[in-house]
Amino acid sequence: MAIQWFPGHMTRAKRQIQEKLKLIDIVIELLDARVPISSRNPMIDEILSGKPRLIILNKSDLADPRMNEQWKQYFEHEGHTCAIVDSNTGTGINQISVLTKEILKEKIDRQIAKGMRPRPARSLIVGIPNVGKSTLINRLAGRNVAITGDKPGVTKGQQWIKTGGDLELLDTPGILWPKFEDQMVGYRLAITGAIREQILNMDDIGYYAVKILVERYWDTLAERFGLTEPPTDLENNLEIVRIMEEIGRKRGCLISGGEVDLEKTAGIILRELRAGKLGRITLEAPYDDMPVREVKQ
Ligand code: G4P
Repeated sequence: MAIQWFPGHMTRAKRQIQEKLKLIDIVIELLDARVPISSRNPMIDEILSGKPRLIILNKSDLADPRMNEQWKQYFEHEGHTCAIVDSNTGTGINQISVLTKEILKEKIDRQIAKGMRPRPARSLIVGIPNVGKSTLINRLAGRNVAITGDKPGVTKGQQWIKTGGDLELLDTPGILWPKFEDQMVGYRLAITGAIREQILNMDDIGYYAVKILVERYWDTLAERFGLTEPPTDLENNLEIVRIMEEIGRKRGCLISGGEVDLEKTAGIILRELRAGKLGRITLEAPYDDMPVREVKQ
């Protein structure tokens, strides 16, 4: 991750967001649709302390469309409003101002009842690094906005960015940290590219990527890398390593003695996965009992 999150940084980031909450009507919480839980801040409810919120599943163009819908339902079930968005192309961003108005309807109605003309809703975008905050701000603004506040601790005069609709944005998004205590969160974020690979072992990131792909997207994986032998036991780590080795051999990742270079293999798998060459992939499911795709025998 671009930022090293030490306890002091977290406290400061939390305080900065809480300062900004006083200025705004609604929070736009950005999650990565491929890893909606791993890209979520573990203290988000506490930090936002009841402020109206819209959850955005961003990078939805890279995620499994079926899973995007499941995740949307999951968050709705939790009592949130949720939108599926691709900030790169702007797909889905029109919903943001519409849903914001719906969420703030009572407040807006009260203003109208008092004879006041409702002003545009003021919002703050929050999310972990790399989730797409700046991209979304630029999309909503319709131009490139100079966004600062890249690091916790950077403050400057707040500016309101007009979006052309009934929504204004604070120009400095709130930067949050993910749940580092959970090792799998780290690996899933590393698979998406949100965490720098150097922090974790490349072979391990590749291993977990293959494990998830084998469990959820075996057909896609097999087709991409020409794999012929499906795993017989998903719980057996050696089976995952065997598949990684098969991929490595297919791609000529060999070291002297004919052994497979697992690090190089992991690099290829991750590059192709992130570039969407394996199609749209979601790495985590909302419910533990989500059916894992059938493994062909
Ligand atoms: P941040 O402010 O939250 O840190 O994230 P930022 O907007 O900088 O976006 C991080 C990367 O994610 C950018 O790629 C951006 O183009 C990409 N991105 C943002 N939203 C979407 C989306 O909806 N779909 C897709 N496919 N990509 C999205 P980048 O400039 O190439 O940076 P990097 O990937 O090299 O770090």
